[in-house]
Amino acid sequence: MSETERTFVMVKPDGVQRGLIGEVVSRFEERGLKMVAGKFMQIDEDLAHEHYGEHEGKPFFEGLVDFITSGPVFAMVWEGQDATRQVRKMMGQTDPAESAPGTIRGDFGLDLGRNVIHGSDHEDPGANEREIDLFFDDEELVDYERIDETWLYE
Ligand code: RTP
Ligand code: MG
Repeated sequence: MSETERTFVMVKPDGVQRGLIGEVVSRFEERGLKMVAGKFMQIDEDLAHEHYGEHEGKPFFEGLVDFITSGPVFAMVWEGQDATRQVRKMMGQTDPAESAPGTIRGDFGLDLGRNVIHGSDHEDPGANEREIDLFFDDEELVDYERIDETWLYE
């Protein structure tokens, strides 16, 4: 059985402008994942560089920083069994054009640079904790039980 864990998720500026916050939140809620933090915010240049530091020097980096700082985002922490990998599966591939219908990027995106949502990389150990720490203070994370938990997990 997989571990319960927390993962960082963000509706990007294109998703916010297109009115997709509710749709994205709804999908994770219905799946049974539990939101333990959420905030509507503007990412500044420094935070963008830190968040996407792994891509510094790549040809798309400056465009990526411009995009992610171009308008507000909705940052969240979701908790559940195998949460990081399950969120990535629900998001689809990096390129929406390669994403299966039924995934968020496959249902709501067409272009690699406008792919609606970010989720911590499950293939990068510790990325989830690192990103949660980068975007949230400890006191912004809320511990609580959802009433459906006994029906979600054996
Ligand atoms: P994200 O970090 O935003 O959740 O996306 P991801 O893990 O699926 O993809 P990643 O490799 O981390 O790339 C970050 C974002 O950079 C843009 N990108 N452009 N032009 C290109 O070759 C290229 N490659 C990546 C995408 O918008 C991607 O979400
Ligand atoms: Mg990534």
